[in-house]
Amino acid sequence: MTGSIHHVGIAVDDLDAAIVRWTALFGATLEHRERVEEQGVEAASLRIGDSRVELLAALGAETPVGKFLAKRGPGVHHVAFEAADVGAELARLKAAGTELIDETPRRGMFGLQVAFVHPEATGGVLAEFVGNE
Ligand code: CO
Repeated sequence: MTGSIHHVGIAVDDLDAAIVRWTALFGATLEHRERVEEQGVEAASLRIGDSRVELLAALGAETPVGKFLAKRGPGVHHVAFEAADVGAELARLKAAGTELIDETPRRGMFGLQVAFVHPEATGGVLAEFVGNE
């Protein structure tokens, strides 16, 4: 079963400046910051109340977020949903013929399992599952 929204991912040009901005504007607190080489990003997880925003800076122009920034500029990049079992969600969608970016879960921030659903499937928004398995 897909659960609540885990975070909204936002592509940024300058991670330090974005953290300062979100903290000043909305009282966000930095929960975690990590370079995820496999995904080509340096990410910062911010808490705002019970919600979470994930700021993403590209590690290079040829990374997925680097290409997104070149094409669309900074802004909302993806919406992530909690999933008890990420692999099961992928299997369910794949069986329904849904276009996926990840056929199997991979490691994301906090050591959690993550997987992405293609924006073509949702009507233009990249979607992510996040879970412990
Ligand atoms: Co994310």
